This record gives sequence, C-alpha cells and structure tokens, in this order.
Amino acid sequence: MTELHLWLRHEARTTERRTPIVPDDARRLVGDGVELTVEESPQRVFPIEEYEAAGCRIAPAGSWVTAPRDAVVLGLKELPDEPAELTHRHVFFGHAYKGQPGAADLLGRFAAGGGALFDLEYLVDDTGRRLAAFGFWAGYLGAALAVLRHRGRLRAPLTPTTKEDLDETLKPAADDVEFTGLVVGALGRSGRGARAAFATAGADPTCWDLAETRDLDRTALLRHDVMVNAVLATSPVPPFLREQDLDSPDRRLRTLCDVTCDVGSPLNVLPVYDDTTSWDEPVRRLRDEPPLDLIAIDNLPSLLPLESSTDFSAALLPHLRDFGVSGPWGRCLDRFRAASRAHGVDAGESRDH
Ligand SMILES: NC(=O)c1ccc[n+]([C@@H]2O[C@H](COP(=O)([O-])OP(=O)(O)OC[C@H]3O[C@@H](n4cnc5c(N)ncnc54)[C@H](O)[C@@H]3O)[C@@H](O)[C@H]2O)c1
Repeated sequence: MTELHLWLRHEARTTERRTPIVPDDARRLVGDGVELTVEESPQRVFPIEEYEAAGCRIAPAGSWVTAPRDAVVLGLKELPDEPAELTHRHVFFGHAYKGQPGAADLLGRFAAGGGALFDLEYLVDDTGRRLAAFGFWAGYLGAALAVLRHRGRLRAPLTPTTKEDLDETLKPAADDVEFTGLVVGALGRSGRGARAAFATAGADPTCWDLAETRDLDRTALLRHDVMVNAVLATSPVPPFLREQDLDSPDRRLRTLCDVTCDVGSPLNVLPVYDDTTSWDEPVRRLRDEPPLDLIAIDNLPSLLPLESSTDFSAALLPHLRDFGVSGPWGRCLDRFRAASRAHGVDAGESRDH
C-alpha cells in the first residue's frame, strides 16, 4: 500500500478561517504515518507554527497545484478559478451536485485533468447519515444571533469570534424581558446547537421535530417570540409559514432565524423571503407593524472558526486515516461519477493514483 499523502490547502475565500484538520489531529495523523503537508494561510484560525510543531511539512499558500499527483488535497470551500485542469483527488464541499451555478465548470475541470472530487457533503455512512458536518455550530449561532437581535444587542457587521466572547453577550442581563423560543428540527445537529444557545441565553425553548409538525399548528407556532428553523427537509412538506401568516393578528413572532436557508428550493419550508442575509447586514425586516425580523445567513459556522473546526476535524479524522476508494469514500466517488455523467462530462474510472 502506498503511503497516504494529505495536502491541507489555504482557503481561497478570505473570510474563511476554518480548517478541516486542526493541529492536534494533524499530530495524530503524522503519528499514524500519514504524510501531511500544510499550506501557509494568513486567515486560518490556527497558526502555521502549530502544524509545524505537529510534524507537518509546510508549503506556500496555493502550492497544491504543483503537489505530487498522488497527494490528496484537502480543503473546505471552493477552489480558485485556476488551474483549468484538476489533476488531483480533492476533498472539500464542492456544491456541484444540485445544479448550483458553476457546477458544470467544476466537474469539467476534474474531467479535463483526470482528478476526482470527494465531496464532504456526501461523506455518509451506509444509512446515508453525514459523517462530518458543521450543523451544531450553525444552530448555536443561529439561535444566538436571534436572541441577541430580540434583546436589541446584535451588532453588525458580524465578524468571527470565540464561543467564550459570544456566550458573554448571550448571558441574560437583569433588565432582559423574558421571551418564548421555538426550535424546529430540534432533534438534529443544528437543532441541538440551537437548544444549547437558548440554554446559555437562559431560555427554555419549545422543541419540535417531525412528530410535532406532521399536523402543523401555525397558530401555536406564531405564539412564540423567537423561532429558529433547523430542519433538513428531504421531501416537500406544507410551509411552516406563509405570507398571510405574517399578517395574522395572532402573531407574537418577532424574530425568525432560518438556519436551513433553503430559499429558492422546492423544499423550502419558509417561503416568506427570497434572499439570504449576510454578515454585513444580518437582519432584514419582513414586517413593520408589529415588527418581524429575519436572519438567514448561510455561512454561520464560519463565525466560530475554532470550535467548528475542532469538532469537524475530530469527526473527519477516523475517516481520513482510512482514505481510499471503498466505504464512505467509495460512495463519494460514485456520487462524483454520477454527477459528472449527469453533466455530460466523463470522469473516467478514476485514475490510478
Ligand atoms: N446556515 C448555515 O450556515 C448552515 C450550516 C450547516 C447546516 N445548515 C443547514 O441546517 C439544516 C439542518 O442540518 P443538520 O445537520 O442539523 O441536519 P440533521 O439531519 O442533523 O437534522 C435535521 C432535523 O430536521 C428534522 N426534520 C426534517 N424535516 C422536518 C419537518 N418537516 N418538521 C420538523 N423537523 C424536521 C429531522 O428529523 C432532524 O431531526 C440543513 O438544511 C443544513 O443544510 C445550515
């Protein structure tokens, strides 16, 4: 068996401070005999010295393009636009299998170079459950931002922070008015995160999951002051809220955070807005009288880069040790080939690396 060579790349997106391997796990991989090269990166939340001390080889930012062809290039978000031909095996979130803009281009670049995409969104066990995901921290942040907004303490623009600092602002103050919270999708990863943030904020939210929305009671939903939607919809269900519900005289709801952010999708359970919000402008007012504020940010975990990287890396580590073409990685490869075929590009039978 050839030795595994992982290459942790610098993230092209300047606001992305997260990483899929933290220095402590890098040390474990090196200890297991994995060759690990780490690119320098000005924004990564962990300094390069910590990787060096863990026994990693250090390389300049972006140098993966000239990495040995058998290296497996690891990142989180999109690749830079160049090179046009991707020759390596890449592990990251490609966002290219659901008809997203740029999908055909990305798959075409892999086909042109003979490389392959192992998309982290499709790294699943044999029941289809994701093996490494950022959901918990997405939910934590979604609920935290919603509570801060509700209490008039949300400052924009948002910038990456630490859990310690976030929790400090989240703790209830003596003059905070009590509110009722609702988490939908409460049993999932994001839902658990949302419940944890509500607890830090001194609130005990109503928790709904599949059983409680089967026979949806919108009047009960509207009786909550703050709602966090954290569902992962896999088939269409009646919307949780419709335009007319926002004008209902029964509406007590003042702050709505949509962690799911399925805006524009046929599976969207909150078709009451048509664009996400952002770090610069996290809140959009949907109604003035009485007020209803929306938070719908689709990159929440990047706001807590240290905690979200640490959890993600711990979940990914055992699978990286077993990197190969069978098991979950085999499923990733099958998914890549199927998506390539659907886009009319030939991913081949994966080169012999
Ligand atoms: N905004 C962000 O930055 C961000 C980051 C990560 C994940 N997400 C999104 O958050 C969502 C949740 O992710 P997750 O990892 O927590 O998923 P998960 O699979 O761990 O949990 C989803 C939960 O939703 C529940 N659910 C599904 N349909 C429901 C319905 N109709 N009514 C009530 N509950 C329902 C499921 O039973 C499950 O408990 C996903 O859509 C994901 O894409 C957003």
